[in-house]
Amino acid sequence: MKIIRDTQRNCARMAAEEYRKLLNENPHCVLGLATGSTPEMLYEELVALCKAGKLSFKDVTTYNLDEYVGLDGSHPQSYRYFMDSHLFNLVDIDKTRTHVPCGVGVTDEMAAHYDDEIKQAGGVDLQLLGIGHDGHIGFNEPCDHFPVRTHEVALTESTRRANARFFAGEDEVPAAAYTMGVGTVMAARRVLMIVTGADKADILHRAFCGPVTPWVPASILQFHPDVTLICDEAAWSGMKA
Ligand code: GLP
Repeated sequence: MKIIRDTQRNCARMAAEEYRKLLNENPHCVLGLATGSTPEMLYEELVALCKAGKLSFKDVTTYNLDEYVGLDGSHPQSYRYFMDSHLFNLVDIDKTRTHVPCGVGVTDEMAAHYDDEIKQAGGVDLQLLGIGHDGHIGFNEPCDHFPVRTHEVALTESTRRANARFFAGEDEVPAAAYTMGVGTVMAARRVLMIVTGADKADILHRAFCGPVTPWVPASILQFHPDVTLICDEAAWSGMKA
């Protein structure tokens, strides 16, 4: 595992540099993208690099990790809306090549088809991840097994509480989401995880220094052959404990 530590802004810059290199080496690459507040700064940096002509998304294909059940792309809290407003509408990407799991009218079979689409596109070259306070990746919540494929999941109370800051209140947070499975994430050729803030110190330590267990879904990354962890000093402080 490659580990990079710095300030939050520099973490975003260094992550953006990884994308600059990848997109220049492989302009047709497939990116697995993430939402949440952690990648916002990275997306700002990517937009700036694209505007400066240092990278192009023209031939890139993207697959996002997850989406709330019941929210369509026009809902301001949907992850499709997030991606459009933080990245896709601001860079030279072909929107028809951007994929976010559909939040409405989806059956289990349709959800799992997302994995087939990713495979047909050649598989994810670089999967971006944040981490939830309970160790979730995408919306794979702690449970007694590692879900393999894209599926519907009931959100835990702690995740709904954490994400309530984006909604009018906790009751407004959807009770369920569609998420890539842990198997989908692990199939990516490379994983880049960004973790910032003191509130993530404990879970970062449990994910990378504790036992590999589905009760801390991110801990499976200990078994991934190519993970880059980018974190700030505040998040890293738990690793010293
Ligand atoms: C959400 C997303 C995750 C994200 C996590 C942490 O629930 N589904 O992909 O990593 O929360 O979000 P944040 O970066 O806002 O702390």
